[in-house]
Amino acid sequence: MCGIVGYIGKDQAAPILLDGLSKLEYRGYDSAGLAVSDGTKIQISKCKGRLKVLSELTNGGLSIQGTMGIGHTRWATHGAPSDTNSHPHYNSNETIAVVHNGIIENYSKIKKRLEEKGYAFQSQTDTEVVVQLLDYYYKGDALETIAKVMTKLEGSYALGIMFMDRPNEFYAVRKDSPLIVGVSENGNYIASDVPAILKYTRSVYYIENGEIVTLTRDKVSITNSDLEPIEKELKTVEWDITAAEKGGYEHFMLKEIHEQPKAVRDTIMPRIRDNDIVIDELNMSEEDIKNLKKIYIVACGSAYHTGMTGKYVIEDLARIPVEVDLASEFRYRNPILEKGTLTVIISQSGETADSLAALREAKKQGIKVLGIVNVVGSSIAREADNVMYTWAGPEIAVATTKAYSTQIAALYLLALRFAKVRGTITEERFDSLLQDLCKLPEQIQTILDKNVTQIQYIASKFVAVKDSFFIGRGVDYATALEGSLKLKEISYIHSEAYPAGELKHGPIALIEEDTLVTALLTQESLYKKTISNIVEVQSRGAFVLAVTNEGNEEAEKVSNMTIYIPTTDSHFTTSLAVIPLQLLSYYVSVGKGLDLDKPRNLAKSVTVE
Ligand code: F6R
Repeated sequence: MCGIVGYIGKDQAAPILLDGLSKLEYRGYDSAGLAVSDGTKIQISKCKGRLKVLSELTNGGLSIQGTMGIGHTRWATHGAPSDTNSHPHYNSNETIAVVHNGIIENYSKIKKRLEEKGYAFQSQTDTEVVVQLLDYYYKGDALETIAKVMTKLEGSYALGIMFMDRPNEFYAVRKDSPLIVGVSENGNYIASDVPAILKYTRSVYYIENGEIVTLTRDKVSITNSDLEPIEKELKTVEWDITAAEKGGYEHFMLKEIHEQPKAVRDTIMPRIRDNDIVIDELNMSEEDIKNLKKIYIVACGSAYHTGMTGKYVIEDLARIPVEVDLASEFRYRNPILEKGTLTVIISQSGETADSLAALREAKKQGIKVLGIVNVVGSSIAREADNVMYTWAGPEIAVATTKAYSTQIAALYLLALRFAKVRGTITEERFDSLLQDLCKLPEQIQTILDKNVTQIQYIASKFVAVKDSFFIGRGVDYATALEGSLKLKEISYIHSEAYPAGELKHGPIALIEEDTLVTALLTQESLYKKTISNIVEVQSRGAFVLAVTNEGNEEAEKVSNMTIYIPTTDSHFTTSLAVIPLQLLSYYVSVGKGLDLDKPRNLAKSVTVE
């Protein structure tokens, strides 16, 4: 939520800041702003609306002169989107400017104290207290002031800070919100995420909690909060720059849907060696695996849905009880974490506040945490005891697709590894599952090659639908949860997912003429049961779309439309069945003319509770 950037160097800052912000718009897009110093004054431009409004206002940045600046793209938390609430925030004589990602939890208390001292506030934001506090303490020593202010702030923050009387340097600090520093010959950068600076440099420092960074035109120095210098390793970002561009696709989401065969392959294949699964990062001996008593999978949103699939697969294959929990619940409900429990935190961004807090809760109780994370160097990746990366590459569209698919793949790998070590499946069964696992990327490709026209047609019929239900049993219920979330978040169609057997316990009351019901039938042993549920909704007027395995013609007989997916082992069907659901929600949203890469009210990385 919210993205920050900063630059100091040889070039004009504003165009670089606007360019960087355009790569961070996925983090928030209700307003944007810049503060640029020309050595004598700080010029601030900010406004409500998408980045393009700010770009027009500043003539692509050309109307603001200066080679040092900070920028912000906002996802409103405190204070509605407005010109005044946009960042950067500044003090009354415009000598200090601040951009902020995060939430200052004790802002009301600080604000009250500062008001008593005569400070007047312009905005309704929590961030403004930071700039007024800086103003209050600043007597000419920037680092000391920043360190002092940090002791007063509670909550999370990544801050970019400029002082007018220090025209050759600016500062950045972080606590619980992401921050990277980029280093190049042309200057130095800060950003909330790598894509913002990838065009300019691949050399980055990942900044840790409590660190303070000073950036000049040719140097970056880092200290801890006691202002003692810190030596950090400069890391090289390996991403291909085109990975963060649309590459000819109309939307990032469509590009990312099509990248799934590669993403899933990149996640699975390096972990298969000599016909076996080797997960070095797991750091668990065979003894540890045999002694596992329970697994907690904790995550939010789509990542939570992958956990639901993981539960069915791990429990069935490895016979380990798995509890799946929403991170926002887990962290506050005093979970019982006994010896022999493994906590798995799943997160694309690695920055989701609730997931990070859940990780800390598990570690506090002495339980080992495995992170399944996509963003290298993110907070969850760094704080987990062990991290298993999903190699999806940068995911820009707010609605996840390829990261979801790689998380599922990572869970399959864990399930198979655990099952083999624990001896809960035979060698032959393991081999056949492994073969099916390796075929998934190719089978995803087949769906993308074969089914798009059919799905476009189906989507065109559902553009006007008001209500939708997704039903399934077993693993299909987990897939239904994801299909339903995809549809609602990018097409704004009300949608709910239910285990098919639950419908008659209440929700069936909502089924009426032309309600869209998507039924998932990929579990052969459950076909008949779900078909009965289809008949129940159809007889009440529902329009039924079935997603099922090739050859299940029974489903076609009772449904209005059927999408067939290639045959795989029943444990792996989520990987295939979710693809038509992603495409369906994509094309419904296209049909409605919505801004589907940036759906309303959402942000990619939810760094607030
Ligand atoms: C939905 C979606 C979200 C995320 C959730 C967790 O399409 O993307 O539901 O899955 O916000 O985010 P991460 O995985 O970054 O922790």
